[in-house]
Amino acid sequence: MTMDATRQRFLMCRPTYFAVDYAINPWMDPTAPVDTDLAVRQWERLRQVYRDLGHTVEEIAPLPGLPDMVFAANGGTVIDGKAMAVQFRDPQRADEAPAYRAWFEAAGFEMYDPKHVNEGEGDILLAGDHLLAGTGFRTAHAAHAQLQEVFGYPVITMQLVDPRFYHLDTALTVLDEQTVAYLPEAFSAGSQAVLRRLFPDAVHASMADAEVLGLNAVSDGRHVVLPAQATGLAAQLRDRGYQTIGVDLSELRKAGGGPKCCTLRLRQGKASQ
Ligand code: ARG
Repeated sequence: MTMDATRQRFLMCRPTYFAVDYAINPWMDPTAPVDTDLAVRQWERLRQVYRDLGHTVEEIAPLPGLPDMVFAANGGTVIDGKAMAVQFRDPQRADEAPAYRAWFEAAGFEMYDPKHVNEGEGDILLAGDHLLAGTGFRTAHAAHAQLQEVFGYPVITMQLVDPRFYHLDTALTVLDEQTVAYLPEAFSAGSQAVLRRLFPDAVHASMADAEVLGLNAVSDGRHVVLPAQATGLAAQLRDRGYQTIGVDLSELRKAGGGPKCCTLRLRQGKASQ
């Protein structure tokens, strides 16, 4: 196993206008109080963790009226200098798509537009030479074929079955080129069999860790940034030789998001992944 950290370039969006005003996943309760200032402080801490690890963090300006825009992972899929824009399932998030698209275009990425519902890196994760693509709740199965055409990586469809784990990045984390961690019960029987075949050494997370969004983690191949509450998963990862860094994103979790949701990986090209 390679335990070398790779320097990464991330896109993030400050949760200035964060709120839970609507419910589009089972985590969201618009009647429960949300502390936006605390959300901002927790997000700033996450950004600092990335900087301390030597990663570069770019920022897109938050827009009023788009409380979920903090979840930058849903803004696109960026691999080898190509950026695929997104198309949200829910109208409440629709206006985020052109804002992210404009950012990618200004940053010089080669742009592609989605033909189907596609919620970006929330559902589409590069794992070694495979693109794992979730479906069942958000990203349409039909989007997977377009991803394969655009990026030229074999796309592996992952069928999500538990509404609490509505995006692939809530049920599976890419740890490095060879390994992932996931919650088996979040996937259909066939998808579980595919995961066992592709990743025989994968870390199997417990429901308790998944329920605090422990799998919504960001790994650079050596350090894994994950929700502080996911203590069991952190111990499993340390046993495998990873260094774990717990962050508390309790406010953003009220919208169903964790560290990975707040973080979009910008991959310039093969050499500088
Ligand atoms: N409230 C947002 C939604 O339901 C949360 C998105 C979390 N993002 C993610 N990559 N899982 O769309």
